[in-house]
Amino acid sequence: MRIDIITVLPELLESPFQHSMMKRAKDRGLLEVNLIYLRDFAINKHGQIDDYQYGGGAGMVMMCEPIANCIDKLKAERDYDEVVYMTPDGETFNQKIANQFSLKGNLIVICGHYKGIDERLRQLYVTREISIGDYVLSGGELAAAVFVDAIGRLLPGVLNDETSALTDSFQDGLLSPPVYTRPEEFRGVKVPDVLLSGHEKNIQEWRHEKALERTKQRRPDLLGEDN
Ligand code: 6GU
Repeated sequence: MRIDIITVLPELLESPFQHSMMKRAKDRGLLEVNLIYLRDFAINKHGQIDDYQYGGGAGMVMMCEPIANCIDKLKAERDYDEVVYMTPDGETFNQKIANQFSLKGNLIVICGHYKGIDERLRQLYVTREISIGDYVLSGGELAAAVFVDAIGRLLPGVLNDETSALTDSFQDGLLSPPVYTRPEEFRGVKVPDVLLSGHEKNIQEWRHEKALERTKQRRPDLLGEDN
């Protein structure tokens, strides 16, 4: 998978993909993340990429030409499956959407700033609009990092048995059960006996029970029919 991220703040996105799972995905040739500096497509030598909004009002709008020219250039080089725009008014990101995206080949991700991008870019270029939750970030970069991380770790070959995505919270629609490691007793609190029993079937049952219990308590919405 190849992900081209269009951004005015590439520095903000350099670190997130250089560690842990994302590094492994890259090192194994499973994921390529390219940061494209939008100011390289500015309309003038001042590096302008935004302008005042028609109709007045506070806040700048990211202009059509820089982003359009950038996407046109990328599209001339290869085909893309989706052009994603990171925006708080997009579809709320979740594990199901991450699973869908993990099956794709090439993606363009646009990070918005200020009041967002000119509506015509959304009409003409954007195929999917994604928000990472109901709060406002100062730009799309951190949201793009979350989006790419969630997708990247699902690519076949990134995770191994120990880090398997199959037992993640949400992957089966439930939160994860509690986990324990050594010592068997810490400040008077013991690891549940069943986990020390070696009885695989009982352990699986216990984990499922606890996952269900935790989901009922914390996220009953996940148990609804429409999830
Ligand atoms: Cl994708 N962008 C911004 N700026 N804020 C957000 C968001 C995205 N998702 C949630 N808040």
